[in-house]
Amino acid sequence: MFENNLEYAKKLDQQDSLRSYRNKFYIPTNNKGEELIYLCGNSLGLQPKNTSEYLQQELEDWAKFGVEGHTDAKNPWLLYHEFLTNSMAKIVGAKPSEVIIMNSLTANLHFMMVSFYQPTKTKYKIVIESDAFPSDKYAVESQIKFHGFDPNEGLILWKPRKGEELCRFEDLEMILDKQSDEIALLMIGNTNYYTGQSFPLKKITELGHKHDCIVGFDLAHGVGNIQPDLHENGADFAVWCTYKYLNSGPGSLGGCFVHEQHANNPNLNRFTGWWGHNKETRFNMRHDFDVLSGAEGWQLSNPSVLSMAAIRASLDVFEEVGIENLREKSVLLTGYLEYLIEELNDYRINIITPKNRDERGCQLSIQVKSADKKLHTQLTEAGIISDWREPDVIRVAPVPLYNSFEDVFTFVERLKEVLN
Ligand SMILES: Cc1ncc(COP(=O)(O)O)c(C=O)c1O
Repeated sequence: MFENNLEYAKKLDQQDSLRSYRNKFYIPTNNKGEELIYLCGNSLGLQPKNTSEYLQQELEDWAKFGVEGHTDAKNPWLLYHEFLTNSMAKIVGAKPSEVIIMNSLTANLHFMMVSFYQPTKTKYKIVIESDAFPSDKYAVESQIKFHGFDPNEGLILWKPRKGEELCRFEDLEMILDKQSDEIALLMIGNTNYYTGQSFPLKKITELGHKHDCIVGFDLAHGVGNIQPDLHENGADFAVWCTYKYLNSGPGSLGGCFVHEQHANNPNLNRFTGWWGHNKETRFNMRHDFDVLSGAEGWQLSNPSVLSMAAIRASLDVFEEVGIENLREKSVLLTGYLEYLIEELNDYRINIITPKNRDERGCQLSIQVKSADKKLHTQLTEAGIISDWREPDVIRVAPVPLYNSFEDVFTFVERLKEVLN
């Protein structure tokens, strides 16, 4: 289906109806001003050129209005998060009332577990995938400990089989068949940061619910990349960051989904703050907490408007392109990358990410047997921005918004040179 030559890669770029979006981003350059091949959107997305304008607006209104900007700014700050809700909801497949931009990813994971991890003496264990992102694992372990249990007992790892890299759904089924009486929560990173494997959100949710477990997802590597359809798929909660595929800048605010079935559940624990209080009466400074319905009710603090402005700039680009169109290009772009790597025919290389397009996003995790970090350094010197994970994996994520087929072709050419 594909061809392994530069002309063909350029032809794919010409045929790409989204190719002009690359010009809406700043592409990092080397000290000669030449564009680098940036394949690291799985770690930090690139800056949209419209971001500074959105930030500038809020800086000007802050200068002009001071505190009155909360109500008098062009985009009143008191309402600012509402400007993000509809676009964010579309990207994760949620109802607007089910999403909120607030805090940061690990903090949101903790706040969600305060509500959705309410263990009993016997049903207190949490299942995560064995290669979960360390911050998620630390958060889960500390929650288990906080409730008075031993994390060594309370944490169940969903592991790949011996000699395999990927987790099999049937093994998760087996864990639940055997131990569901003890399991309170399935907390799965979807898509996995290390292998790039996207887990079947609907099947996992149905499985968890069948066994009377709560099911939550960390979408850090899924949001803006795959289409998680959170509402339809019935996840209880989900958390994500906005600085990877959502291009909102380092350390920007995170996002959170709470399924509408939990919107007004008074039996859930919740850590509260004034921003979760009824908007109509918040500034009356009443003593009694009057919680907002839906995901908004989980807010604690007034959020950073500058961060939200950057998120809005990015979401406006997504709104224009449409997540379906991005996904369509992504499947082709990553498919082309996979084809070119396979064409290398190098016995040292093994793509650990699943081959099935429904089981991955744009990232491929490439294992280079007996390589060490020197390989990554050489790639960086050759103008490739990728990401290295010990012991021997290069993660590359061609991002459909700003990466081209030519980027992908050049990357594989340089990888070949470095390997030789
Ligand atoms: C899957 C996953 N979980 C958690 C984190 C930690 O994010 P934060 O520092 O925003 O809490 C990251 C960061 O890259 C991540 O990829």
